[in-house]
Amino acid sequence: MVKAVVAGAAGGIGQPLSLLLKTCPLITELALYDVVNSLGVAADLSHISTPAKVTGYLPPDDGGKKAMKDADIIVIPAGIPRKPGMTRDDLFNINAGIVKGLIEIIAEVAPKAYILIISNPVNSTVPIAAEVLKAKGVFNAQRLFGVTTLDIVRAETFIAEASGNKSVQSINIPVIGGHSGETIVPLFSQAKPSFSVDDEKLAALVNRVQFGGDEVVKAKDGAGSATLSMAYAGFRFAEKVLRAMNGEKGIVEPSFVYLQGVPGGEEIYKATGCDFFSVPIELGTNGAEKALNPLTNLTDKEQTLLKACTEALGGHIKKGVTFANSAP
Ligand code: NAI
Repeated sequence: MVKAVVAGAAGGIGQPLSLLLKTCPLITELALYDVVNSLGVAADLSHISTPAKVTGYLPPDDGGKKAMKDADIIVIPAGIPRKPGMTRDDLFNINAGIVKGLIEIIAEVAPKAYILIISNPVNSTVPIAAEVLKAKGVFNAQRLFGVTTLDIVRAETFIAEASGNKSVQSINIPVIGGHSGETIVPLFSQAKPSFSVDDEKLAALVNRVQFGGDEVVKAKDGAGSATLSMAYAGFRFAEKVLRAMNGEKGIVEPSFVYLQGVPGGEEIYKATGCDFFSVPIELGTNGAEKALNPLTNLTDKEQTLLKACTEALGGHIKKGVTFANSAP
């Protein structure tokens, strides 16, 4: 029996993500929570002939608590998205409070849940979640994940296009660091299968992975940011967590985690100076069972990217921690 929750289920990401989760045979109960329209989304999805029982909740009458009670996995795409000209950090003022409020509910009614945070800025919202859980005495770093999968999905797609590889789904590429602009560090030298393009094309590929989200924001022209590709990415990560919970071995996917709370993370923390960092994570029945160190054998260019990442990321993390500890 697995209960999954989507918080922010009526939004641009929440709806297609909920649809994908409804198709997942590993889920027996799917609770949809939002401040608007979650009952409609739940009624709609409930007619699909797959096992998961779908329910919808709104804030009145402790709807958030009822939705999240005893959940095994909670995916959070709640919050406002970017408009043209905005950075992810511009979302902080609104989304920080939304994430804090949701994590406070989770700490109370589902303290053992796996929490997957999509809401931006991920570089700050995940530290906020960790601080709130710590303050409530229920923090387990192995169960808190910032979802950076869209950066990996983009890197795979863009490499396939640039290198003419027709089997895009066979490509594996670690993307590490954070989830915004220069904090996103694609490690193309570790791509499998390996590929080669000239320096100019490589620099363009790095830039496209770092700022690929802007292409979508611009094309949507005020109507938001990536939703469908994000729903795919969020589902891909959630499904891997669920498969690992179910006992499947050898599942690895990068995620933004609290390094010092995940086995293997300490040495990456010492090398980067960042408490939170996205690295390839081996998933298991305990959640994040091992952080795999991707920092050996970096090229000179990747070292430069890493330096720019860690310089910016530290500030984003600090901003989240400070907010969590000072907000009422
Ligand atoms: P959206 O505005 O379409 O949907 C957000 C939903 O959250 C809305 O339905 C809203 O009612 C709901 N919501 C607001 N406050 C809530 C609360 N307290 N409790 C429950 N639900 C609440 O936005 P969209 O496009 O779905 O994006 C959601 C978030 O995901 C944004 O912060 C966006 O920046 C982020 N995002 C993250 C990505 C990543 O790679 N991690 C990629 C793309 C977007």
